[in-house]
Amino acid sequence: MPQRPYVIDRMITAKAIAARVEALARDITAHFAGTDKLVVVGLLRGSFVFIADLVRELDLPVEVDFMEASSYGDTMTSSREVRILKDLRGEIAGRDVLVVEDIVDTGFTLSHVLHLLRARGPARIEVCALLDKPTRREVDIRATWTGFEIPDEFVVGYGIDFAQRNRNLPYIGKVRFTDAG
Ligand code: PRP
Ligand code: MN
Ligand code: MG
Repeated sequence: MPQRPYVIDRMITAKAIAARVEALARDITAHFAGTDKLVVVGLLRGSFVFIADLVRELDLPVEVDFMEASSYGDTMTSSREVRILKDLRGEIAGRDVLVVEDIVDTGFTLSHVLHLLRARGPARIEVCALLDKPTRREVDIRATWTGFEIPDEFVVGYGIDFAQRNRNLPYIGKVRFTDAG
């Protein structure tokens, strides 16, 4: 299917993201102060940029692990079916866990992943999401910490894709189609 032409309008600058990441990291560090080890779980692919910046601001003993979950594929709407394509490498039973997600939209991805992880008996499990689109929620779920609440726009950059492109933009932008449709 050929891609409709679009441009990307800047929405959140790299500088604003960096400032917010620092503040989130301070809150998370305070919350988990004294932990013997925090397992930070990034949900691939979208969280790869955010988790890289976030863990470097955490003043805690940290292990980094990843799980790959996909529900959008190359489309703009959720399939509501979350495919787990890669599981964690480590065990999380009895551990403190921080799930890191780029965006919570319908909530299906986060809810599915939390359900799977909770069944493994972590000591504590919390979620940090960079972006939240509350108006699109279909599952009643929210992150413990959220970077920015955003309106119902299709966003890209800082790890987030549109049909696998634009993940490498250093800022968050919104997709605006330039054809008639
Ligand atoms: C996107 C995004 C979140 C999820 C949010 O992932 O990275 O993981 O969708 O949407 P939801 O709240 O409606 O479930 P996607 O399925 O596009 O995979 P990706 O991270 O590999 O891009
Ligand atoms: Mn994702
Ligand atoms: Mg995606």
